This record gives sequence, C-alpha cells and structure tokens, in this order.
Amino acid sequence: MSLPEMERIEALLPQWVEESRQQCSYGKVASYIPELSKSPIGALGIHLINSKGYSVSAGDTKLSFTMQSISKVFTLILALMDNGEEAVFDKVGMEPTGDNFNSMLKLELVQPGIPFNPLINAGAIAISSLIAGKDPKEKSGRVLEFMRLLSNNQALDYDLDVYRSESATANLNRSMAYFLKDNGVLQGEVEDVLDVYFRHCSIRITCAELAQMALVLAHNGINPLTGEELIPRRYVQIAKTFMTTCGMYNASGEFAIQVGLPAKSGVSGGILTLVPGRYGIGLIGPSLNRKGNSIAGVALLETLSQEFDWSLF
Ligand code: DON
Repeated sequence: MSLPEMERIEALLPQWVEESRQQCSYGKVASYIPELSKSPIGALGIHLINSKGYSVSAGDTKLSFTMQSISKVFTLILALMDNGEEAVFDKVGMEPTGDNFNSMLKLELVQPGIPFNPLINAGAIAISSLIAGKDPKEKSGRVLEFMRLLSNNQALDYDLDVYRSESATANLNRSMAYFLKDNGVLQGEVEDVLDVYFRHCSIRITCAELAQMALVLAHNGINPLTGEELIPRRYVQIAKTFMTTCGMYNASGEFAIQVGLPAKSGVSGGILTLVPGRYGIGLIGPSLNRKGNSIAGVALLETLSQEFDWSLF
C-alpha cells in the first residue's frame, strides 16, 4: 500500500530541494533594491503545513526574508475588508497585463487610467492608499497587525534596512505613484501612500509563517487549527483568483500550466502557494529567473505538483 501523501512528501522533499537547488546558479538575486543584493543566492527552503497543523520542511527554512510582493495579496484582502469590492475595483482592474511587475506602460494606454490589477506595483500602490487609518502610521500598523494575525506570530516586524533601501531608490515606483495621483487613483499624499507600500513590502518573514498564512487561504479564510474565521470567504476567493491569473506576474500562464496552483512571488525570492483545502506552502529561493520569480522555487513546485497531481486544471 502506498504511504499517505504527507509521509511521501517528508521522505522525498530533502532530495527534491537539493535537485532544484542546482537551478540557483542560472538566476540572479534582485539588486534594484540594493539591500536585497546581499541575499544568499544558493539558498532554497520550503515549509508545508496541513489542516491538522502537521508540517514538513526541507532546505534553508531558518532563513528569514522580506515579503515584498507577497504582501500585496494581504493588503488587497485588507483593502477589500475596509472598503468592499465596489470601492476597490473603482481604483484597480481585474486583468493580467503580460508586462513586467513594475511596468507603467498600460497606465496611459487605456481609460480609465487605473492599474490593470492589484498585484502589479501600480495596483498595489493604489491598494495601499485604500487601507483604512487616520495617517500612514496607523495604516501601516493595521497592515502589520493583519500579517501578524494570519501568520500567528505577534513578533513579525519590518526589516528597516530593506525598507530604507527601497524607499531611497524607488524612482520607478515613485514616478508611477505620482502618475496615479494625477489620474485620480490615489487618495492622500503620494509619499504617505508610498510609505505604507514600502513598509508592507519590507515585512520580514519565514517559510513557516508564509505557510501558515497560505493555510488560511487554503481554507477559504478560516484557520483550520482554531476554527476561527479571519477573512470573509468572498475576499479569499478574489485573492486566490488574482494569485492564479497574476500572482507570478508575466509568468502566471506558464506557472498555471506547469504547477496549476494559486501562488504569489516576491523579488526577495519568496513564494506563497497552497493546495486548496489541504496545504499551506511557503518557500524561499533568492535566485530569480528573468521574470522575477524564484528559479529553484518554481522548479521545486513543478516537481511537487506533478508528482502529487496537485494542479487544479
Ligand atoms: O515595489 C517593488 O518593486 C518591490 N517592493 C516588490 C516587487 C516584487 O516583489 C515583485 N515580485 N516579483
């Protein structure tokens, strides 16, 4: 009789991590945020947690890293909880772009000039301006508290070196934000909105914490370990749909074909993904492919998904 899946994962994962790790030498760590260029290029780690709280991990899972674009999934959810669907989709669209994550190409091409979706940089900056709070400090504080709640770690915090490094060099995001302000997409001061955005991108996390957050999404907003509803089901559905169509940027189509799971990557090399109703998964692999996704991380997820037939499609 074949072993239960979790036991097979446990037995095979260390070997698959080492095989996928070979890919690291074909990629590069992000350097446009200077602080990220210090990331260990050869690292790869993964953590899976199931509905009963049983977890398996392999590789460099002690490494912590900044959430970067992974945080956009949760600021979207918080903005939906704060404002409702109608107000959010008045300011951002629902369509993939096929362009790079930091592209502003389409902002001028279509009317109204709102970002195509909430997971590209322009869209996530628009979402930052929709987070409720009387000032940027309160808005950022609410985002951090939300991440702490979902990751079940009250100690989660910003990496201020990465935050400052991004804020000091973000000419492209800054120009995009001013453009959005002119288009009437952003509320409040542009620099205040950007501050909320840079802060949530700089939240430092581990694979285990990402996996815990993913587990809540895998259970439609309920933490299966406590039974508590943390996010309304409809907003999880919206977030998972964006993860599927736009979560891996302009490699989302390829990822849907090769892996077939909702996922979100960040330029630090993190990926959050999930198997609906079953697993939350967090991984780190700072060496990135040309589209900005973890090169070894994507390879590892391809192996796992194909081996266990996890694709939703
Ligand atoms: O705004 C930026 O460029 C970064 N803080 C986040 C970008 C990112 O993670 C894109 N991911 N693939």
